Amino acid sequence: MTTTTATSPVLEATGVTMRFGGLTAVRGVDLTVNSGEIVGLIGPNGAGKTTFFNCLTGLYVPTEGRVAYKGTVLPPKPHLVTSAGIARTFQNIRLFANMTVLENVLVGRHTRTKEGLWSALLRGPGFRKAEAASRERAMELLEFIGLAHKADHLSRNLPYGEQRKLEIARAMASDPGLLLLDEPTAGMNPQETRATEELVFAIRDRGIAVLVIEHDMRFIFNLSDRVACLVQGQKLVEGTSDIVQNDERVIAAYLGTPFEGAPGSEEAAEVEAAEAAEAQGTTSTEGPAQ
Ligand SMILES: Nc1ncnc2c1ncn2[C@@H]1O[C@H](COP(=O)(O)OP(=O)(O)O)[C@@H](O)[C@H]1O
Ligand SMILES: [Mg+2]
Repeated sequence: MTTTTATSPVLEATGVTMRFGGLTAVRGVDLTVNSGEIVGLIGPNGAGKTTFFNCLTGLYVPTEGRVAYKGTVLPPKPHLVTSAGIARTFQNIRLFANMTVLENVLVGRHTRTKEGLWSALLRGPGFRKAEAASRERAMELLEFIGLAHKADHLSRNLPYGEQRKLEIARAMASDPGLLLLDEPTAGMNPQETRATEELVFAIRDRGIAVLVIEHDMRFIFNLSDRVACLVQGQKLVEGTSDIVQNDERVIAAYLGTPFEGAPGSEEAAEVEAAEAAEAQGTTSTEGPAQ
């Protein structure tokens, strides 16, 4: 961020906790995304990254904490979050397989047209009026992601990498101020991953802030202004790519090596101590220790 333009928070998550019965999937996570920023969210499998996204987008109601978009606390309802200005893609592709590429983008547009989803799908009278404008905007987005030439193809016939791009276009159709991407390069080859990197930069250059979950470290560290690392539901480290990349706790979390102060390390230490005590007790009943 070298520009002189003032940045302001687009997303402010404060103390977000999500419990499922006895399992705490996300624990007291604070995260801010500022305008003009690309923020990366990393962490081993099961760290709570997707659950955190679900809390941000109203799919889950967090057990504790709050989520604000441009200074206003969001109601925990997905459609209200979308119309407020947050759009997302999913870890598992969720396109309408039997709709065309263009229609999939038009569906993403429905929160921004008065006519709404059913009218768009059923092509009611109100729809026709808004249709031309919506189609134009949708085609513009398809051009932006490089899929305009496939506008009339069924989305299920697209190669995997293009389906992921289409999901991004559909998310952008709601004119978001913040885009959440959950593993956008999963299953992509290196060329597609590289193209996605360029695409995310271009999205940011359109004034959309981006929060992205990804396992591809080269992708995330190239792309992100800031990276946060979740481990066992807690934010372990946050900082620039350089800082996070070289943080031994992050490295340990990925390699599975325990480290001092790791979430859950207290419990692990207790268990260890108890086992040691038990072992000692056993030894003393069986005879003198050597
Ligand atoms: N709906 C749910 N009900 C119960 N447990 C869940 C649910 N969603 C996620 N979890 C659990 O929460 C933890 C975090 O999962 P997830 O957020 O998918 O991790 P990540 O995206 O970082 O791989 C996991 O232990 C997972 O099994
Ligand atoms: Mg996930």
